[in-house]
Amino acid sequence: MEEKKTFYITTPIYYPSDKLHIGHTYCTVAADTMAKYKRLRGFDVRFMTGADEHGQKIERIATAQGITPKEYVDKVVDGIKKLWASLDITYDRFIRTTDADHVAAVKKIFNKLYEKGDIYKSEYEGWYCTPCESFYTEHQLVDGKCPDCGRDVEKVKEESYFFRLSKYQDRLIKYIKDHPEFIQPPTRQTEMIANFLKPGLEDLCVSRTSFSWGIPVDFDPKHVIYVWVDALSNYITGLGYGSDDDSLFKKYWPADVHLVGKEIVRFHSIIWPAMLMALDLPLPKQVFGHGWLIINGGKMSKSKGNVVDPNVLIRRYGVDAVRYFLLREIAFGQDGNFTNEALIQRINSDLANDLGNLVSRTVGMIDKYFKGTLPEKHMDTEFDADLKSVCSDMIGKFESSMDKMMFSDALTVLWTFIRRTNKYIDETQPWILVRNEEDMPKLAGVLYNVAESIRIISIMLQPFMPNSPKAIFKQLCIEGNKNITSWESIRTFGLLPKALHVERATPLFPRIDMKKELVELEADIKAAQSQNLAYKAAQAEKEEHPEITIDDFAKVHLVTGEVLASEPVKGSKKLLKNTIKIGNETRTILSGIAKHYSPEEIIGKKVVVVENLAPRKMMGETSCGMILCAENEDGKLSLITNDKEFGSGCDVK
Ligand code: MSP
Repeated sequence: MEEKKTFYITTPIYYPSDKLHIGHTYCTVAADTMAKYKRLRGFDVRFMTGADEHGQKIERIATAQGITPKEYVDKVVDGIKKLWASLDITYDRFIRTTDADHVAAVKKIFNKLYEKGDIYKSEYEGWYCTPCESFYTEHQLVDGKCPDCGRDVEKVKEESYFFRLSKYQDRLIKYIKDHPEFIQPPTRQTEMIANFLKPGLEDLCVSRTSFSWGIPVDFDPKHVIYVWVDALSNYITGLGYGSDDDSLFKKYWPADVHLVGKEIVRFHSIIWPAMLMALDLPLPKQVFGHGWLIINGGKMSKSKGNVVDPNVLIRRYGVDAVRYFLLREIAFGQDGNFTNEALIQRINSDLANDLGNLVSRTVGMIDKYFKGTLPEKHMDTEFDADLKSVCSDMIGKFESSMDKMMFSDALTVLWTFIRRTNKYIDETQPWILVRNEEDMPKLAGVLYNVAESIRIISIMLQPFMPNSPKAIFKQLCIEGNKNITSWESIRTFGLLPKALHVERATPLFPRIDMKKELVELEADIKAAQSQNLAYKAAQAEKEEHPEITIDDFAKVHLVTGEVLASEPVKGSKKLLKNTIKIGNETRTILSGIAKHYSPEEIIGKKVVVVENLAPRKMMGETSCGMILCAENEDGKLSLITNDKEFGSGCDVK
C-alpha cells in the first residue's frame, strides 16, 4: 500500500498569561482549518499546539496570586483547552512546556549545544522585557521602552550562558535567499533580512539566574534555560526528539509549516533555524507570519481593555460563524480590523442569505413539490452546462488557494459558486416549472443539480465549519455515506442518488436584526471586558504589593523614634535631614517631606521608623532608616505618630 504523504503544522504555543482573546484564536483556527483540509485531502496530518508555561512573566503572575507557577498554569491551561474544544480545534497533541518529556528533551538539546561549543558562559548586561520575554540592547530601545510592545524594560546584569547566534548569520542569509518559500509572505522575508540579519546578529543570552521558573541547565542548575529556547524546542520535542521513541520525529520532521503571528517571525526564522543548524537538523519548510486582528486601528490587548472574548461570539453566533468570519474577513498575512458590524454583516449576507437560504429553499422545494423525494426521471435545462463548468473551475481555484493558505481567497471562490447556484434557481424558475405537469422532469433535474451543488459546497466547507456541513449532509440524507462525501467525490458532478430524499430542518443561520444585535453584542463584549479589566487591576495591585508571609513581615524592624533635630538638605527641595533618637542611639535619616513640614514643625515629634533599612546615599548624605508617612490621594504627606506618649526605641508591631 502506498504510504500517505505527511503534513506537519504547528501554531505558536500560547502564554497562559490570562484568558485568550479572539486575536489569539485566529492562528489556531487557521492552523486547524489547514489540518482538517489536508486530512480530507488524504494526508497523514500532525497538528500541534500548546502552552508556553515557563519564564519570568508567568512566575510573577503566579507569585502575585499567591500560588505556585504550576498551580497557576494548570488553571489557565484548562481554560485554553476548553476554548479550543468549543472552537472544534482538533490537534494531535497539546504540548505543555512543563510536560516531563519536553523538559527532559530540552535539557538534552541544551547539553548538546554546549558540548558542541555553540553555548558558552559569560555575563549578560542589558535590558529585558518581561511581557515579551525578550532581550534588548540599549540602542534597540525606543524612548527607553520595549521596541515591540512599548512597555517598561528592566536592566539585567547576571551570569548567563550564550548561544553563538552570530556564527550562523551568513548561513541563515544564504538559506533564506536560496529558499524563497521559507519565510512567507515575502514581505516578512525582506523585513527579517533588512532589520535583523543585515545589521548583524549578536550572540543570544540563553539562560537566566534571577528567577527559577524554567527548565534548569543540567550541568549548572542555578541557571534556567531562556524561555524562547525552551518554547521553540517544542516543535521537535513534541515529536519525541531527544526521547527513547523518536518515531514521530522521523516521520513528521521537518515541519511543513510553523504558523505564527508577525511579531514572532524573527524568533522562528532566525533563532529557531540557527538552533536547528547547530543541532544538525533540517529546517522547517516554511514559517508563515500572519497579520493581526486589530481593533480601531490598534492591536487588541488586555491592557488597553479592548479585547473581544471569543466565548461571547461563540455563544451568540455559534462556532461555524466565528471560524468563517475570522478566515473570510481578513486576507491571511495582512492585518484586519475586527468590527461587530462586519461580523453581523457577514453572518447575514454570506451565511444566512447566500448559504443558508440556498439550502433551505432547495430542501423546501423538494419537500413541497415532490413530498421530499425526487422522481428518477430528470431532464436537462439550458442553464446546466454553465453551472457545472463554474463548479469544476471553482474546485481547482479553491484548492490552489488553500495550498497557499489563502483562506479568504478560497472562501471567496466557493461563495462565487454558492451565488452562482442561487442564480441558477432564479434562472430556471422552479416555481414556474411546477405549474406544468410536462415540466416535472425538468423541475426534478433542476432541484437535483442544486442539491448536487450543495453536496459539493458542504464537502468543501468542512475544514472551515464543524457543524453546518454535517447538518446539510443530514438534510440530503447522505450523512455517513463516504463515497459521496469524500473530497475526491467533489470532482464528479452527479453522485447523489437520482431519487434523492431530503429531510427538512431548521435554518442553518437565522438572519440577525443588525440594529438590535449591535446593542446587545456591544453590551456583552463590554461586560466581558470589564470583568477582565477588574481582574487585571486586581492583579496589577497584587503584583505591586505581592502577598507576604509573617516571616517576611518580621524582617522589617519598625520602632518609635524622636526627632531631635531637622534641617533642609542642600540642593534638594524635597529632603529634610533629621537626627532621630531611637532608644539610646541617634542616627541620621533623610526624609522627602520638606514640602509638607518645616524643620521647626517636625522637631520633637514621635515618629515610626524602619530601623533596619540598608543605608542609602542621597544628595551626598547617608540616610540610615526611613520615617513612615501616609500619602493622601492629593500627594500630601503626613507623619505617622503615636497617639499615646511613648518613649523612643519601642517596637512597632
Ligand atoms: N509563547 C509565545 C510563542 C512561543 S512559540 C514557540 C507567544 N505567545 S502569545 O500567547 O503571546 O501569542 C501567541 C500567538 O497569538 C502569536 O502568534 C501572536 O501573534 C498571536 N496573537 C496575539 N494577539 C493577536 C491578534 N490580535 N491577532 C492575531 N494574532 C495575535 O508569543
